Amino acid sequence: MAKSYNIAVIPGDGTGPEVVAEGIKVLQAASQKFGFKLEFLHYDLGGERYKRTGETLPEGVVEELKRFRAIYLGAIGHPDVKPGILEKGILLALRFALDQYINLRPVKLYQGVETPLKDKGPADIDFVVVRENSEGLYTGAGGILKKGTPDEVAVQESINTRKGVERCLRFAFEYCRKRSQAKKLTLCGKTNVLTYAFDLWERAFYEVGREYPDIKTDYAHVDATTMWMVKNPEWFDVIVTDNMFGDIITDLGAMIQGGMGIAAGGNINPGGVSMFEPIGGSAPKYTGQNVINPLAAIMAGQMMLEILGEEEAAAAVEKAVQKVVAEKLKSMSAGKMGYGTREVGDLVAGLV
Ligand code: IPM
Ligand code: MN
Repeated sequence: MAKSYNIAVIPGDGTGPEVVAEGIKVLQAASQKFGFKLEFLHYDLGGERYKRTGETLPEGVVEELKRFRAIYLGAIGHPDVKPGILEKGILLALRFALDQYINLRPVKLYQGVETPLKDKGPADIDFVVVRENSEGLYTGAGGILKKGTPDEVAVQESINTRKGVERCLRFAFEYCRKRSQAKKLTLCGKTNVLTYAFDLWERAFYEVGREYPDIKTDYAHVDATTMWMVKNPEWFDVIVTDNMFGDIITDLGAMIQGGMGIAAGGNINPGGVSMFEPIGGSAPKYTGQNVINPLAAIMAGQMMLEILGEEEAAAAVEKAVQKVVAEKLKSMSAGKMGYGTREVGDLVAGLV
């Protein structure tokens, strides 16, 4: 009997449903070609539901989601909802509740895709960021005192546990070994100022590193990292960093690989349920116009296939995307691709 995977789909807000539909089209094509089954169950979560019912993650949903092999997410974010409610109530809540402690974000420039970096090409821009995804400044630790008064105090604490840091580092070392390219892992931190948090990170990094003698270890401050990402992106193979720095440097990474139209990521729990998403947001102004680029969502689906162990299918989807960007698309930007959202999905699905 053919293997079968049940996948929870959260199309979400804005252009999320449109790009997810194209991702599913491509995943279905891959499953037919490579002889496995994908069963999708859609969940209505996001800004529209929140506006209708006041719910972000209703009771029981997390428990249900734990029964799936993976989650495929479009976008969360709504122009009518105050910033923070949906992000914290759905996206971050899921990452935390499902203990998706890694945010894996490849930064890879494909042939034919324009990068804003002068004189840099696909041979130079090909690295992966392993972002810690469960701690740091994202835990919500801290608080406000005397709110609204001249004596107001706001504290937002970065939580770094030895266990949390170490499991992230170990994942990064293993990933770097498996990727088997330059075999170089760069810790991105700020040891010159964040002398508690990154002291722990740095010690753990070199201690864990001793178990991986085949991996070269390297360190860069976060500010320098952004400089090198622009000036010498070819220096990087795998970068490991905390939640906040990882958030920031991966937006820069998305830009140098051709923009939000192509940047994908995975929220990974290696022993549990992982969630795959395009990095760009819900892009409300492009909603319903068939102009948004679905490739980021398609590549998120590609990463999902890898985690499911369908590596041949994953490789075929990547090859199809590479062919479409090299030979067909005029640009990665919404409305400028030379094709509509659905047509790009058709092109990729047809080549898988
Ligand atoms: C991302 C996003 C989220 C984050 C927001 C929407 C909470 O920017 O996935 O990078 O900060 O992690
Ligand atoms: Mn971000």
